[in-house]
Amino acid sequence: MKNLILITLALAQKNALTLIAARSSELHPLHATDPITIWCSPDNPQVVINKASFTRKSDNKTFEATLSPTKKNATYTFGSPSVKDAGEYKCEMETPHGKVAHSVFIYSRPVVHSHEHFTEHEGHEFHLESTGNTVEKEEQVTLTCPVFGYPKPVLKWTKDGAPLALSNSIRMEGTTVILSSPDYADAGIYSCEAVNEYTFNGKTSKMLLVVDKMVSVKSEFQWIYPLAVILITLLLLVLIIVFCEWRNKKNSASSK
Ligand SMILES: *[C@@H]1O[C@H](CO)[C@@H](O)[C@H](O)[C@H]1NC(C)=O
Ligand SMILES: *[C@@H]1O[C@H](CO)[C@@H](O)[C@H](O)[C@H]1NC(C)=O
Repeated sequence: MKNLILITLALAQKNALTLIAARSSELHPLHATDPITIWCSPDNPQVVINKASFTRKSDNKTFEATLSPTKKNATYTFGSPSVKDAGEYKCEMETPHGKVAHSVFIYSRPVVHSHEHFTEHEGHEFHLESTGNTVEKEEQVTLTCPVFGYPKPVLKWTKDGAPLALSNSIRMEGTTVILSSPDYADAGIYSCEAVNEYTFNGKTSKMLLVVDKMVSVKSEFQWIYPLAVILITLLLLVLIIVFCEWRNKKNSASSK
Protein backbone atom coordinates (compact mmCIF):
# COMPACT_ATOMS: atom_id res chain seq x y z
CA MET A 1 0.00 0.00 0.00
CA LYS A 2 2.83 2.35 0.92
CA ASN A 3 4.44 1.75 -2.47
CA LEU A 4 1.29 2.77 -4.24
CA ILE A 5 1.31 6.10 -2.39
CA LEU A 6 4.94 6.62 -3.37
CA ILE A 7 4.18 6.07 -7.04
CA THR A 8 1.32 8.57 -6.88
CA LEU A 9 3.69 11.12 -5.37
CA ALA A 10 6.27 10.56 -8.07
CA LEU A 11 3.65 10.99 -10.80
CA ALA A 12 2.42 14.22 -9.31
CA GLN A 13 5.76 16.00 -9.76
CA LYS A 14 4.72 17.30 -13.18
CA ASN A 15 3.31 20.61 -14.27
CA ALA A 16 2.60 22.29 -17.57
CA LEU A 17 2.51 25.98 -18.40
CA THR A 18 -0.80 27.28 -19.74
CA LEU A 19 0.11 29.37 -22.76
CA ILE A 20 -2.33 31.22 -25.00
CA ALA A 21 0.23 32.69 -27.41
CA ALA A 22 3.50 31.53 -28.97
CA ARG A 23 5.82 34.51 -29.19
CA SER A 24 8.59 34.90 -26.66
CA SER A 25 12.01 36.52 -26.55
CA GLU A 26 14.86 37.07 -24.13
CA LEU A 27 13.68 40.66 -23.63
CA HIS A 28 9.96 39.84 -23.40
CA PRO A 29 9.63 36.26 -22.16
CA LEU A 30 6.15 34.85 -22.64
CA HIS A 31 4.29 34.31 -19.36
CA ALA A 32 1.79 31.60 -18.54
CA THR A 33 -1.76 32.51 -17.57
CA ASP A 34 -1.66 30.59 -14.26
CA PRO A 35 0.83 30.34 -11.38
CA ILE A 36 2.65 27.04 -10.92
CA THR A 37 3.57 25.38 -7.63
CA ILE A 38 6.21 22.70 -7.73
CA TRP A 39 6.53 20.45 -4.72
CA CYS A 40 8.18 17.33 -3.40
CA SER A 41 8.04 15.12 -0.34
CA PRO A 42 10.21 12.28 0.96
CA ASP A 43 9.13 8.85 -0.23
CA ASN A 44 8.58 7.78 3.35
CA PRO A 45 5.60 9.81 4.66
CA GLN A 46 6.95 9.52 8.23
CA VAL A 47 10.07 11.53 7.42
CA VAL A 48 10.11 15.27 8.09
CA ILE A 49 12.08 17.79 6.00
CA ASN A 50 14.50 20.18 7.68
CA LYS A 51 15.40 22.18 4.59
CA ALA A 52 14.73 21.89 0.86
CA SER A 53 15.54 23.62 -2.41
CA PHE A 54 14.82 23.25 -6.13
CA THR A 55 17.64 23.59 -8.66
CA ARG A 56 16.86 24.11 -12.32
CA LYS A 57 19.00 21.86 -14.55
CA SER A 58 19.23 24.27 -17.50
CA ASP A 59 20.97 27.11 -15.60
CA ASN A 60 21.59 25.72 -12.07
CA LYS A 61 19.43 28.47 -10.58
CA THR A 62 18.33 27.55 -7.06
CA PHE A 63 14.94 28.31 -5.49
CA GLU A 64 14.50 28.00 -1.71
CA ALA A 65 11.50 25.82 -0.89
CA THR A 66 8.81 26.64 1.63
CA LEU A 67 7.97 23.83 4.05
CA SER A 68 4.42 22.91 4.91
CA PRO A 69 3.43 23.23 8.63
CA THR A 70 3.80 19.44 9.00
CA LYS A 71 7.26 19.66 7.35
CA LYS A 72 6.25 16.81 5.04
CA ASN A 73 6.00 18.86 1.86
CA ALA A 74 8.40 21.34 0.25
CA THR A 75 6.94 23.80 -2.28
CA TYR A 76 7.94 26.69 -4.48
CA THR A 77 5.45 28.87 -6.35
CA PHE A 78 6.13 30.74 -9.57
CA GLY A 79 3.54 33.52 -9.38
CA SER A 80 3.81 34.37 -13.05
CA PRO A 81 5.94 31.67 -14.65
CA SER A 82 7.55 32.39 -18.01
CA VAL A 83 8.55 29.84 -20.64
CA LYS A 84 12.11 30.16 -19.34
CA ASP A 85 10.91 28.48 -16.11
CA ALA A 86 10.04 25.29 -18.01
CA GLY A 87 12.47 22.43 -17.56
CA GLU A 88 13.67 19.83 -15.11
CA TYR A 89 14.29 20.71 -11.47
CA LYS A 90 16.09 18.71 -8.86
CA CYS A 91 14.45 18.87 -5.45
CA GLU A 92 16.91 18.26 -2.65
CA MET A 93 15.59 17.65 0.86
CA GLU A 94 17.61 17.47 4.03
CA THR A 95 16.01 15.10 6.51
CA PRO A 96 17.15 13.65 9.85
CA HIS A 97 17.99 10.49 7.85
CA GLY A 98 20.15 12.24 5.27
CA LYS A 99 19.58 13.88 1.89
CA VAL A 100 16.78 12.85 -0.47
CA ALA A 101 16.41 14.06 -4.06
CA HIS A 102 13.54 14.01 -6.55
CA SER A 103 13.04 15.30 -10.07
CA VAL A 104 10.27 17.76 -10.83
CA PHE A 105 9.23 18.83 -14.32
CA ILE A 106 7.58 21.93 -15.74
CA TYR A 107 6.53 21.33 -19.32
CA SER A 108 6.02 23.93 -22.02
CA ARG A 109 4.63 23.52 -25.53
CA PRO A 110 6.91 24.86 -28.30
CA VAL A 111 6.94 28.64 -28.70
CA VAL A 112 9.06 30.92 -30.85
CA HIS A 113 11.88 32.39 -28.78
CA SER A 114 13.49 35.12 -30.86
CA HIS A 115 13.78 38.88 -31.38
CA GLU A 116 12.67 38.36 -35.02
CA HIS A 117 9.23 39.69 -35.89
CA PHE A 118 6.43 37.14 -36.33
CA THR A 119 2.72 37.55 -36.91
CA GLU A 120 -0.09 35.07 -36.39
CA HIS A 121 -1.14 33.26 -39.53
CA GLU A 122 -4.89 33.86 -40.03
CA GLY A 123 -5.37 34.37 -36.29
CA HIS A 124 -3.93 30.99 -35.26
CA GLU A 125 -1.86 31.54 -32.09
CA PHE A 126 0.37 28.55 -32.78
CA HIS A 127 0.91 29.12 -36.50
CA LEU A 128 3.26 32.04 -37.02
CA GLU A 129 4.75 33.64 -40.10
CA SER A 130 7.75 35.92 -40.54
CA THR A 131 7.89 38.93 -42.82
CA GLY A 132 9.98 36.85 -45.22
CA ASN A 133 13.19 37.02 -47.19
CA THR A 134 13.52 38.59 -50.62
CA VAL A 135 16.87 37.79 -52.19
CA GLU A 136 18.66 38.09 -55.49
CA LYS A 137 19.07 34.93 -57.51
CA GLU A 138 21.98 32.90 -56.05
CA GLU A 139 22.18 35.02 -52.89
CA GLN A 140 22.48 32.75 -49.83
CA VAL A 141 19.47 32.46 -47.49
CA THR A 142 19.60 31.10 -43.94
CA LEU A 143 16.31 29.96 -42.42
CA THR A 144 16.30 29.37 -38.67
CA CYS A 145 13.58 27.92 -36.50
CA PRO A 146 14.09 29.59 -33.11
CA VAL A 147 11.76 27.52 -30.95
CA PHE A 148 11.85 26.72 -27.27
CA GLY A 149 9.86 24.11 -25.38
CA TYR A 150 10.26 21.44 -22.72
CA PRO A 151 10.75 18.60 -23.55
CA LYS A 152 12.95 19.86 -26.39
CA PRO A 153 10.78 20.00 -29.53
CA VAL A 154 11.53 17.87 -32.57
CA LEU A 155 11.73 19.97 -35.75
CA LYS A 156 10.70 19.15 -39.32
CA TRP A 157 10.91 21.44 -42.36
CA THR A 158 8.53 21.44 -45.31
CA LYS A 159 8.39 23.54 -48.46
CA ASP A 160 4.99 24.49 -49.88
CA GLY A 161 3.47 21.66 -47.83
CA ALA A 162 5.79 18.85 -49.02
CA PRO A 163 8.78 17.46 -47.11
CA LEU A 164 11.84 19.60 -47.85
CA ALA A 165 14.08 17.92 -50.43
CA LEU A 166 17.77 18.48 -49.78
CA SER A 167 20.16 18.97 -52.69
CA ASN A 168 23.53 20.50 -53.54
CA SER A 169 22.13 23.96 -52.96
CA ILE A 170 19.70 23.16 -50.11
CA ARG A 171 21.29 21.80 -46.97
CA MET A 172 20.62 21.58 -43.25
CA GLU A 173 22.98 22.63 -40.51
CA GLY A 174 21.44 21.36 -37.29
CA THR A 175 17.90 22.68 -37.50
CA THR A 176 18.80 25.56 -39.85
CA VAL A 177 18.08 25.40 -43.60
CA ILE A 178 20.64 27.00 -45.90
CA LEU A 179 19.81 27.80 -49.52
CA SER A 180 23.29 28.40 -50.89
CA SER A 181 22.32 29.60 -54.38
CA PRO A 182 18.53 29.93 -54.67
CA ASP A 183 16.95 29.75 -58.10
CA TYR A 184 13.41 30.91 -58.98
CA ALA A 185 12.15 27.36 -58.27
CA ASP A 186 13.46 27.62 -54.70
CA ALA A 187 11.07 30.49 -53.90
CA GLY A 188 8.11 29.49 -51.74
CA ILE A 189 6.94 29.00 -48.19
CA TYR A 190 9.33 27.12 -45.95
CA SER A 191 7.62 25.86 -42.80
CA CYS A 192 9.20 24.58 -39.64
CA GLU A 193 7.00 22.25 -37.62
CA ALA A 194 8.06 21.91 -33.98
CA VAL A 195 6.42 19.17 -31.89
CA ASN A 196 6.81 18.03 -28.33
CA GLU A 197 4.87 15.60 -26.21
CA TYR A 198 4.28 15.25 -22.50
CA THR A 199 2.08 13.38 -20.08
CA PHE A 200 0.67 15.33 -17.21
CA ASN A 201 -2.40 14.64 -15.01
CA GLY A 202 -2.69 11.29 -16.79
CA LYS A 203 -3.18 13.00 -20.14
CA THR A 204 -0.66 12.86 -22.99
CA SER A 205 -0.53 16.00 -25.10
CA LYS A 206 1.21 16.38 -28.43
CA MET A 207 1.87 20.07 -29.02
CA LEU A 208 2.59 21.65 -32.39
CA LEU A 209 3.94 25.02 -33.46
CA VAL A 210 4.25 25.95 -37.14
CA VAL A 211 6.54 28.76 -38.28
CA ASP A 212 6.31 29.88 -41.93
CA LYS A 213 9.12 31.70 -43.69
CA MET A 214 8.51 33.04 -47.16
CA VAL A 215 11.40 33.15 -49.62
CA SER A 216 11.10 35.31 -52.77
CA VAL A 217 13.79 35.32 -55.45
CA LYS A 218 14.12 38.58 -57.37
CA SER A 219 14.88 38.55 -61.09
CA GLU A 220 18.45 39.66 -61.76
CA PHE A 221 17.13 42.00 -64.48
CA GLN A 222 14.64 43.68 -62.18
CA TRP A 223 16.74 46.85 -61.96
CA ILE A 224 16.16 47.35 -65.72
CA TYR A 225 12.47 48.26 -65.30
CA PRO A 226 12.85 51.41 -63.19
CA LEU A 227 15.79 52.42 -65.36
CA ALA A 228 13.67 51.99 -68.51
CA VAL A 229 10.91 54.15 -67.00
CA ILE A 230 13.44 56.92 -66.24
CA LEU A 231 14.93 56.73 -69.75
CA ILE A 232 11.49 56.85 -71.43
CA THR A 233 10.49 59.83 -69.26
CA LEU A 234 13.70 61.65 -70.20
CA LEU A 235 13.16 60.85 -73.88
CA LEU A 236 9.59 62.21 -73.71
CA LEU A 237 10.84 65.41 -72.02
CA VAL A 238 13.45 65.90 -74.73
CA LEU A 239 10.81 65.31 -77.45
CA ILE A 240 8.44 67.84 -75.84
CA ILE A 241 11.21 70.44 -75.56
CA VAL A 242 12.30 69.88 -79.15
CA PHE A 243 8.69 70.09 -80.33
CA CYS A 244 8.02 73.32 -78.38
CA GLU A 245 11.23 74.88 -79.72
CA TRP A 246 10.28 73.88 -83.25
CA ARG A 247 6.73 75.35 -82.84
CA ASN A 248 8.11 78.59 -81.36
CA LYS A 249 10.49 78.96 -84.30
CA LYS A 250 7.71 78.23 -86.77
CA ASN A 251 5.35 80.74 -85.05
CA SER A 252 7.98 83.48 -84.98
CA ALA A 253 8.84 82.75 -88.65
CA SER A 254 5.19 82.95 -89.77
CA SER A 255 4.51 86.13 -87.73
CA LYS A 256 7.23 88.00 -89.74
C1 LIG B 1 25.29 22.87 -13.24
O1 LIG B 1 26.02 22.22 -12.21
C2 LIG B 1 26.48 20.91 -12.55
C3 LIG B 1 27.12 20.26 -11.35
O2 LIG B 1 27.62 21.20 -10.45
C4 LIG B 1 27.43 21.01 -13.75
O3 LIG B 1 27.88 19.73 -14.14
C5 LIG B 1 26.70 21.66 -14.91
O4 LIG B 1 27.56 21.84 -15.99
C6 LIG B 1 26.11 23.00 -14.49
N1 LIG B 1 25.26 23.50 -15.57
C7 LIG B 1 25.18 24.79 -15.96
C8 LIG B 1 24.26 25.12 -17.05
O5 LIG B 1 25.84 25.67 -15.41
C1 LIG C 1 2.30 19.52 -1.40
O1 LIG C 1 1.81 20.84 -1.65
C2 LIG C 1 1.23 21.03 -2.92
C3 LIG C 1 0.89 22.51 -3.09
O2 LIG C 1 0.22 23.00 -1.98
C4 LIG C 1 0.03 20.13 -3.09
O3 LIG C 1 -0.56 20.30 -4.35
C5 LIG C 1 0.49 18.70 -2.91
O4 LIG C 1 -0.60 17.82 -3.01
C6 LIG C 1 1.18 18.51 -1.58
N1 LIG C 1 1.73 17.17 -1.52
C7 LIG C 1 1.54 16.37 -0.50
C8 LIG C 1 2.18 15.02 -0.54
O5 LIG C 1 0.87 16.72 0.46
